[in-house]
Amino acid sequence: MRSSFSLVALGALLGLTRALEDLPVITLPWGKYRAEVFGDDEEILLFRNVRFGKEPPRFGAPSFPDWEDGSIQSPDRSTTCIQINPKKLSHPPAGGNPLEDPHKSPAAQTEDCLFLDIYVPRWVYEEQDPSTLLPVTVWIYGGGFAFGSKNQGGPLYTGKSALQASNYNSIFVTGNYRVGAFGWLAGDYMQQEGQPNAGLYDQALLFEWVQTYINQARGDNASVSAWGESAGAGSILHHLIREDGEVDPKFHTFAAQSPGFEWAWDNSPGGKLDTMYRNFSRLAGCDFDYNIDCLRKAPVAKLADANQNLFDLVRQTGLFPVGPAVDGKWIKNLSPISFSEDKYWKNITSGLISHVANEGYLFSPKDMDSEAKYDAFLNEFLPGSTLAPQRTAIKAQYDCKKTWLGDYRLCVAAIIAHAVFTCNTRDLATAYPGKSYMMDYAFPADGLAYHGSDLVPQFVTNATETEKLLEALDIEKYLIDVMAPLIDNAIKPVFQNYFASFGLYGSPDSLGARLPWPTVVDDGDEFSDVMKVGLSWGSPFKVGSDSKNSKAKCSFWSGIAKEIVASKATYGDSHGGLFGTQYPINGGNEL
Ligand SMILES: *[C@@H]1O[C@H](CO)[C@@H](O)[C@H](O)[C@H]1NC(C)=O
Ligand SMILES: *[C@@H]1O[C@H](CO)[C@@H](O)[C@H](O)[C@H]1NC(C)=O
Ligand SMILES: *[C@@H]1O[C@H](CO)[C@@H](O)[C@H](O)[C@H]1NC(C)=O
Ligand SMILES: *[C@@H]1O[C@H](CO)[C@@H](O)[C@H](O)[C@H]1NC(C)=O
Repeated sequence: MRSSFSLVALGALLGLTRALEDLPVITLPWGKYRAEVFGDDEEILLFRNVRFGKEPPRFGAPSFPDWEDGSIQSPDRSTTCIQINPKKLSHPPAGGNPLEDPHKSPAAQTEDCLFLDIYVPRWVYEEQDPSTLLPVTVWIYGGGFAFGSKNQGGPLYTGKSALQASNYNSIFVTGNYRVGAFGWLAGDYMQQEGQPNAGLYDQALLFEWVQTYINQARGDNASVSAWGESAGAGSILHHLIREDGEVDPKFHTFAAQSPGFEWAWDNSPGGKLDTMYRNFSRLAGCDFDYNIDCLRKAPVAKLADANQNLFDLVRQTGLFPVGPAVDGKWIKNLSPISFSEDKYWKNITSGLISHVANEGYLFSPKDMDSEAKYDAFLNEFLPGSTLAPQRTAIKAQYDCKKTWLGDYRLCVAAIIAHAVFTCNTRDLATAYPGKSYMMDYAFPADGLAYHGSDLVPQFVTNATETEKLLEALDIEKYLIDVMAPLIDNAIKPVFQNYFASFGLYGSPDSLGARLPWPTVVDDGDEFSDVMKVGLSWGSPFKVGSDSKNSKAKCSFWSGIAKEIVASKATYGDSHGGLFGTQYPINGGNEL
């Protein structure tokens, strides 16, 4: 741990500013990477754009570079994987891109994107004792499996807040993984000729890199915590059920904030995932066909366009068109089933599991205003005649007319909240009893705690950043004026302290927290001893119970998951309305 007598301070006092050449270097077989002083905080050294994988073969598995190079590598290069820009979609999902900094155009994008950044407290190097190793946090970004980057812009995903909150006693790593069609095409054909769930393999390579090399950045590979939000947390969940829980995820603790993904189980030949593949192939000029060689030879710009257009083609229901998919190997089953069958990795010390109070609303289509649109939404989610009983069951459970007084948008928002997000938090907490800390983030109030809003208190370090990030979230000015000072003064310090403590010690209240945060208790239906964050309870932090991931809600959804998998329904069952008129239905294959 950091000594109270800082050698950095002493060095500064004596004017011993070190020359650039003295900054530490990481030596990998494929190149050397020199740290730089992090611009925003000189107590932090940043190893920027460290390569952890060679350029992955398109639609193939990633691997460490296989060449040797003893020279110092320049960090100045584009490393962002190829993105979908939700703002440019003709029918954007209502969720939009809540995290994009609208003032910043995305960096140049490339398929050669397997790079990571490491934020290290400077004192640990000044101290010169290489046996001092600090706990490591690995951040997996969100973005609907369609966009996102370790360099999201502004304070997002930098290690600044985490290091500062840990009193400079932790290390923060963040790395890229492939998104969109480049990372997540799946289905029977990809299982044979390509790599389904390639994005998960990219993340696994990142965790493997951390195990093997993080000691060079003074990180302790026996103390690795995986953190992520949204698709990032949905990814972490899938590391825990990898190959029915038989593969070490290479982390011992995890923080999963709003873990989300859309169920994708139909990997039957010619099924929904195959159809997604062929739709992409056609958009890329390789016909509605199974011809991966054509896709592999196509110019990247053409594929990037096809990737963007795929998201226009797939009817936007507010759900995630791509993401983790059942592939017979990594993902054997839909996760609610894997967890209920006890098929997950057990050797986890503790988990911090959270959701926001209003997960679903931004994803629920803006024009969702009728029974017919509700039906179309359910048809998109669970297509085909075989799944009609499940659609009927959902309509009985979510009676929009009665329970939501005909507000279909709110009604569908509830479905998305439970099926896509909050029931995953129940699965995780139930998997690790006595080791799970749960949070219900409801700041400033239940209805206003939208998906992604918890990233604000997590990553901001000053008032300017808070205001900018709230602006990027499209929050109205008058609300920003009210919220920003509250976040800065009342929410952020406590929130960051809990997370920093969790990263250091595996428990959120071991770093001087005033309010203890116990492990969660399942009282039979609702969870109690949940950390509630919001203004409705007199104090912004309070321990209480949570109804948004109740057993009643979630056993309904795990029941649906079991039924749809058991029914072996495939996309081939779906008819008519689902297929646009833009393209003729190809032969008998699709039906
Ligand atoms: C973990 O780091 C130690 C050095 O701290 C190293 O000896 C060991 O090989 C590393 N583990 C793996 C799996 O690489
Ligand atoms: C489980 O994790 C502990 C550290 O938390 C480690 O010492 C032990 O070897 C792990 N066991 C297995 C079976 O991986
Ligand atoms: C807030 O942080 C930003 C970096 O994100 C920095 O440029 C700015 O100077 C800081 N502002 C204050 C008031 O510290
Ligand atoms: C494939 O494209 C058609 C339009 O031709 C669209 O209606 C359908 O939803 C798409 N299916 C998938 C699985 O992407």
